[in-house]
Amino acid sequence: MIPSATEQFMPLAQDCKRPDEFLGIVLAFDAFGATTRELADGGVHYLVNEFWTSRQRQAHSIHEISYRACFKPQLPEFFISRLTRPGEGVYDPFMGRGTTAVQAALQNRRSMGNDVNPLSLLLTRPRLAAPPIEKIEARLRGIPWKKGEIVREDLLAFYHESTLRQICSLRAYLLEHAPLNEHPDPIDDWVRMVALNRLTGHSPGFFSVYSLPPNQAVSVDAQRKINERRNQSPPPRDVAALILKKSRALLADKAPIPRNDALLGTGDAWNTPYIGDRSVQLIVTSPPFLDVVQYSADNWLRNWFAGIDDRCVQISTHRSEMEWMEMVRACFVEFARILAPGGHVAFEVGEVRGGKVLLERLVWRAIEGLPFERLFVLVNEQQFTKTSNCWGVSNNSKGTNTNRILLARRI
Ligand SMILES: C[S@@+](CC[C@H](N)C(=O)[O-])C[C@H]1O[C@@H](n2cnc3c(N)ncnc32)[C@H](O)[C@@H]1O
Repeated sequence: MIPSATEQFMPLAQDCKRPDEFLGIVLAFDAFGATTRELADGGVHYLVNEFWTSRQRQAHSIHEISYRACFKPQLPEFFISRLTRPGEGVYDPFMGRGTTAVQAALQNRRSMGNDVNPLSLLLTRPRLAAPPIEKIEARLRGIPWKKGEIVREDLLAFYHESTLRQICSLRAYLLEHAPLNEHPDPIDDWVRMVALNRLTGHSPGFFSVYSLPPNQAVSVDAQRKINERRNQSPPPRDVAALILKKSRALLADKAPIPRNDALLGTGDAWNTPYIGDRSVQLIVTSPPFLDVVQYSADNWLRNWFAGIDDRCVQISTHRSEMEWMEMVRACFVEFARILAPGGHVAFEVGEVRGGKVLLERLVWRAIEGLPFERLFVLVNEQQFTKTSNCWGVSNNSKGTNTNRILLARRI
């Protein structure tokens, strides 16, 4: 249940009205040339530029796991570099694959993250305490690969029988040795994270026969149709070898130095009592965009492998704009509690409904009266969408190639 929006912060409400009020920040954000500044209806300030796409540095290899609607590491890196110092808390309440948490660790900040789906924890935690490759290799050798029974025959649509036997063996081993609610051994945790990422995909680097990209598991029926259409059947794969290969790739740029103060949790973004008051300096996040992405449908196979019961995961989807705004406001009420004064929220939204719904404007309105200065909406436009109108109709119908980030400062 989303709590009703509280009015307790009303007297402190104060919004940024003139562009020059945030000129200091704007200058610090002029990464790749002049930024266009625009004032749109409703007093929303837009800053448009190619802030990090062009000439961007290659992201660190440890980010390279797929997740639906994840953002690029360059996005949190941009804000972390400019708005925090080493050791400060950087938090993502909708952490997904953990892009913000992992980037924070790479920049020696305190990683903090939350997601309603426990899968997110399983994808993020191991990369904050990555084991050396030799230990991963040794652990893979010790797993009883032939012991497991095939517990779901329907998965033969994706896997050769010998591959499915290895997957079931690994799953049984992990459920026994690294149960979900206990603190796992970091090597088992790592092996599970990599296996989750190799379950299905469109190349021989995955356990499955050709399927959709790994962040969108298709249903068994849909996979049977793909097999028919492509006249394919699942080839045998060496699961341990594929996990080792991917581990080497993830660790190619070396892992972040482990810090013992990372804080990750599972729950609704608006209710995070495990996070201390004023303990966060920066929030970089991207919430579900209305009902655009079906995270549960995309993650069913990963959840099965990890032993997560889909029915217990209440992923938020919102049909109406009003419902979505209530959710956003409830989140910002919680953000006001956990942010240090002067701390920032970088809240990324996508273009939805063919550009007809401007989510950043809904956020701008939703947080009115809360103790935040709404600084501006930063639009990172890629070269090929430069001609599109940043607050009008875009050339994308679902999701987006631009990032729109509302930046707000805790008063
Ligand atoms: C757009 S994705 C975030 C992706 C993330 N920025 C990344 O780079 O991986 C939105 C996330 O919100 C999570 N989510 C949905 N409802 C939630 C809720 N009520 N509280 C917390 N997380 C939620 C979904 O599980 C999904 O991982």
